[in-house]
Amino acid sequence: MTQRRILVTAALPYANGHVHLGHLVEYLQTDIWVRFQKLRGHRCIYICADDTHGTAIMIRARQEGRSEDELIAEMQAAHERDFAGFDIEFDNYGSTNSPENRELCGEIWESIRQAGLVKEKDVEQLFDPVEGTFLADRFVRGTCPKCESTDQPGDNCSKCGHHYSPAELIDPISTLSGATPEVRSENHLFIELEQLHEFLNDWAIGDDHLQTEVANYLKGHFLHEPLRDWDISRPGPYFGFEIPDSPGNYWYVWFDAPIGYIASTKQWCEKHNEKLDDWWRSPDTEIHHFIGKDITYFHTLFWPGMLKTAGFNLPEKVHIHGFLTVGGEKMSKSQGTFVMASTYLKHLDPAHLRYYYASKLGSRLDDLDLNLDEFKAKIDSDLVGKAVNIASRSAKFVQDGNLSDVYPDDGGLFQQAADAGETVAKHYENCDYAAAMREVMMLCDRANKYVEDREPWKLRKDPAKQDELRDICTVALNLFRQVAIYLAPVLPGLAKQTAELLNDPIGPGDWEKSQTPLVGTSVNKFQHMMKRVEEKQVQAMIEESKETQADEAAGGDNQYNDGPEALEKEPLTEEECTYDDFVKVDMRVARVIEAGHVEGADKLLGLKLSLGGDVTRNVFAGIKGVYEPEDLLGQLVICCANLAPRKMRFGVSEGMVLASGPGGKDIYVLRPDSGAQPGMRVH
Ligand code: 2FM
Ligand code: ZN
Repeated sequence: MTQRRILVTAALPYANGHVHLGHLVEYLQTDIWVRFQKLRGHRCIYICADDTHGTAIMIRARQEGRSEDELIAEMQAAHERDFAGFDIEFDNYGSTNSPENRELCGEIWESIRQAGLVKEKDVEQLFDPVEGTFLADRFVRGTCPKCESTDQPGDNCSKCGHHYSPAELIDPISTLSGATPEVRSENHLFIELEQLHEFLNDWAIGDDHLQTEVANYLKGHFLHEPLRDWDISRPGPYFGFEIPDSPGNYWYVWFDAPIGYIASTKQWCEKHNEKLDDWWRSPDTEIHHFIGKDITYFHTLFWPGMLKTAGFNLPEKVHIHGFLTVGGEKMSKSQGTFVMASTYLKHLDPAHLRYYYASKLGSRLDDLDLNLDEFKAKIDSDLVGKAVNIASRSAKFVQDGNLSDVYPDDGGLFQQAADAGETVAKHYENCDYAAAMREVMMLCDRANKYVEDREPWKLRKDPAKQDELRDICTVALNLFRQVAIYLAPVLPGLAKQTAELLNDPIGPGDWEKSQTPLVGTSVNKFQHMMKRVEEKQVQAMIEESKETQADEAAGGDNQYNDGPEALEKEPLTEEECTYDDFVKVDMRVARVIEAGHVEGADKLLGLKLSLGGDVTRNVFAGIKGVYEPEDLLGQLVICCANLAPRKMRFGVSEGMVLASGPGGKDIYVLRPDSGAQPGMRVH
C-alpha cells in the first residue's frame, strides 16, 4: 500500500462560545478519520485553530471590560480542554489571531488583487457614535413609524408587522449604548467571484470532491446564475487584521478564518521542521476539510476560489455532515438537551459518546439524533455486552500466563475477521462509520458464540484440560484484539487497554496487526475495561444543563444569543429596491386547503391554497421531508400570488409559498399571526 500524505481540518470553532455536543459530532467524526488514516500507516495531520475575529468578539470583550486578546485566550484554553477530554487529538491547534495568519492573509490578498478580482462599492450601515461601531439591525430599537408602538426592533414591528429600514424608526436607539445611531455609507471591498465561475463549476461538480447532494445543491442554488460579489471588508473599529493596502478597513472574519487552516499548518511545520509547500502546494498532498452543512457556501465556493487564485492545493474532498438533534428535536436549553462538552464530561464517559456517534454517522448529510435511551442501550449491549465481553470471559483464564505457541484451529474465525478488515477500512475511508461499527459488531457476535460454545469456564478446574483451555483463550483473545484494532480509531482507550493486556502496542501503522494472530506471548492481569451507562448519570447531566441555562439567563447575556451565521451565509447584498419594485410582488395570506405528496417527486409537496372565495392556487413547495402534509393542512401561509405559472414535470405551479432558511432540512415556512384572513395583502 502506498503511503498517502493527508492534511485534515475540522471547522475552526468561534471564540465566542463553548463547545457543546452538537460541535462534537464534527470534531469526533474528524478525529476518528484521522486516527484511522494513521492506523493504516499514512502520514496524516489533524489541523485546527480558534476562529477569533469579528464584531461579536469585539462587543463581548467591551461588555466584559477586558481586551479581546484576554477573552480569546481564555476561550481557546477552554476549547482545548474540552477537546482533550474527548480524546480529540490535534496535531496543531492554532489561532486565527496569529502572526502566521496575518502574513498568509496578506499573501493571498495580494494574489487576489493581482488577479483583478477586487472591486469597491459603497455600503450603507447604521453607526453607533458612542460605541464607535457599525450596528447590525438587531442592535437597534425604536418606535414603529406606522403604529407608533415603542421599543420595536430595527427591521419590522412586532405589533403591526410593518417592515421598515432602521433609519425610519422614530427615536431609534442603539441597544449597545443607548445613543441615536447614524446612517453612514462606507466603502467596502468585494471579491468578484463571478470571474471564477467556470473554474468553480468544474471543481464543485466534477471529480467527486463533494457529496452528490452537495454538488446538486450548489448547482441548483448558486452555480446556475452569476455568483454574487463577496463583501470581504469591514470598516474599523473591527477586531481583525487591517487590510494593508486599504487602511481603516479590516478583512471580514470569513476571509481570514479558513486561511487559519494554512496558518495553523505553518506553525506545525515550524515545530516539526517541515516545509509548508509540501503540505499546501504539492500534488502529493490531499487536503480534506470536515464541516457542517451550514457553512457549505464558504468552503465550496469562496475557499476554493481563494486557494486557486493564490496557487494553493484545492481540497481533495470537503466532507459535510448534518446537525445534531436530541430526542428528535433541536437541542433545547430549557429541556436540558443543550449539553456543553464540559457538562457531559462531569457525568459520562467520553468513549461512550465517541462510539455512539460513530454508530450513527453515515457518509450523507442527514442529521444525527442523540436518543438517550438508545445511547444507553447501545453502549451496554455493543461495547460492554459484545466487545469487552469477549476479553472479560477469556482473559482471566490465561492472565499472568502465555498464549498458545501455535495458533489453534478456530474453524476459520480469525481469517474471516482478518478478511473483513478491508470492508471495515472502506467504510471508515468513506466516513460510513455506522456501517463499520455494524461490521465489527458482527465479528463480536461470532467471537462470543465461539466462547459460549467452548465454555472455557468449565475447563478451569480440570488439570487434563489446561492446554485446551489455553487454546480457547488464545483464539478468543486474538479475535478480541482484531476487534480492538478495528475500533481503535473510535475507542483509542480500549486499544490502549488491549495493548497493555496483551503486551503488544496498537499504534500508527498497526492496522496490519489484525491480519496475524499473536502466539506464545504473555498475557497480563485483566483489568476492568468499560462500564455500563448509569441512568442516573444521564439524568444528572440533563439537570445540570438546565441549571447552566438558568444561570446564563440570569446573567443577562442572552441579548446576543443570535449568531451571525445566517446573515453571513446570505449577506445583505441585494441591490436597493424602491417601494414600487416591492409592490410588484403581490404577496397574500392564503390557507392550505389541500396538501399531499407528489408522485415521483423527492422534495415536493403539492398544496392547494385558498386566497378567499373561489380564488385558489396550486403550488409545488420544496419542503417534503421537512413538513408533512398534515402539518400544513388548514394553516395560513404567505403566497406570492402573481408569480408567472411554471410548468414542472409534475404539473403547473401557480405561485410560491414563502419560506426561509438555507435548504435541506433547514427550511421554515412563514406563517402570519392568527387573525389574518386569506386574501389579505402583505405589505
Ligand atoms: O461556523 C463556524 O463556527 C466558523 N467559526 C467556522 C470557521 S471554519 C474556517 F473557515 F475557518
Ligand atoms: Zn407598528
